[in-house]
Amino acid sequence: MNRYFATVARGLETIAAKELENLGATQVTPDFTGVHFEGDRSLLYRVNLWARTIFRVLVPIAEFPCRDADALYRGVQNIEWSDYLSPEQTLAVRCTGGNSKLNHTHYSALQVKNAIVDQQRRQFGKRSSVDSREPDLQINAHIYGDQCILSLDSSGDSLHRRGYRPAMGIAPLKETLAAALLELAEYDPNLPFVDPMCGSGTLPLEASLKALKIAPGLFRDQFAFMNWQDFDRSLWRQLCQEALEGQLDELPAPIWGSDRERAAIDLATTNASNCGVADFIQLKQMDFSQLEAPGDRGILICNPPYGERLGNTEELGGLYKQLGDTFKQRFKGWTAFILTGNKELAKRVGLRASRRFPVENGAIACTLLKYELY
Ligand SMILES: C[S@@+](CC[C@H](N)C(=O)[O-])C[C@H]1O[C@@H](n2cnc3c(N)ncnc32)[C@H](O)[C@@H]1O
Repeated sequence: MNRYFATVARGLETIAAKELENLGATQVTPDFTGVHFEGDRSLLYRVNLWARTIFRVLVPIAEFPCRDADALYRGVQNIEWSDYLSPEQTLAVRCTGGNSKLNHTHYSALQVKNAIVDQQRRQFGKRSSVDSREPDLQINAHIYGDQCILSLDSSGDSLHRRGYRPAMGIAPLKETLAAALLELAEYDPNLPFVDPMCGSGTLPLEASLKALKIAPGLFRDQFAFMNWQDFDRSLWRQLCQEALEGQLDELPAPIWGSDRERAAIDLATTNASNCGVADFIQLKQMDFSQLEAPGDRGILICNPPYGERLGNTEELGGLYKQLGDTFKQRFKGWTAFILTGNKELAKRVGLRASRRFPVENGAIACTLLKYELY
């Protein structure tokens, strides 16, 4: 069994922990902006292929006392780097955290890099080059108190970059956040799903990937672990094959996305084609005021503008009131959710929220408000 650490957005640790357990992880322990778990190599690949709510999976390789720069250098040199990296391969080091003597992450990262390449030079007379964009080995040094944990990053590019969404709206949700909102909303693919302000389509797209049992990692062709010396290509191929075979041919219940902007629907349609769900979901240009419930029961989630990035608080008050009125009048029997970063606007909905989930949307503290509509 190996120890792993999944990094996640603040506030989503419990949701991510549940997802990891469902994927077969053991000893799952949520921590601040991450989740510790255990499993074998197959699980590491499976998590990279299937996880919808996490950013990356780190594989800790050493932990040592590190009060200052010398201790950091010595600790890194005690590791046999030829087990992980040849001088022909490139590397990058990212550092997080710090202590009173190591309070510049950039400097600490340089120290780690120097310790590694100095060891290589002694052993081989040559060293790896640094490639901060697409390194063969991405190393993560996390310093907390007087300790340092060194990990290998198995994902490389963050897993929220699924690869299906080159087309972005003005204020798109991260795919990982959209997937987490679906979990918080207890989205059931057997019920209709509606996002009446879908922008680039992140919520309906993530809902359809989940409903069709499509592994989000299938859209990427590169994960950092593929460059590792122990990469098991046949195991990876087998997991991808199983994922492809398990996909459904049709949605259990309809998924709709609409937006008043033509340009937004065009983006959402391009993104839906990129991930192969364009024939399944229904995307339509429509103002929210025209919306009717497409059934007696279902889940509605929307992420209206809230003044931070789009629109203006004064003007938006009317839109939030209209949301509340429409929910009450036309969506009886449904469960509706609004993600907003503006408490004043949330009050304008005029309905009592039965739950409030704090979540971070980028750097903006937001709340997902739940309305049960009877
Ligand atoms: C914050 S963006 C949604 C972003 C989306 N979740 C994504 O990931 O791309 C808000 C969206 O609400 C849409 N919108 C604003 N007022 C609307 C209205 N009255 N009817 C329908 N859509 C509206 C905007 O066009 C915009 O695309």
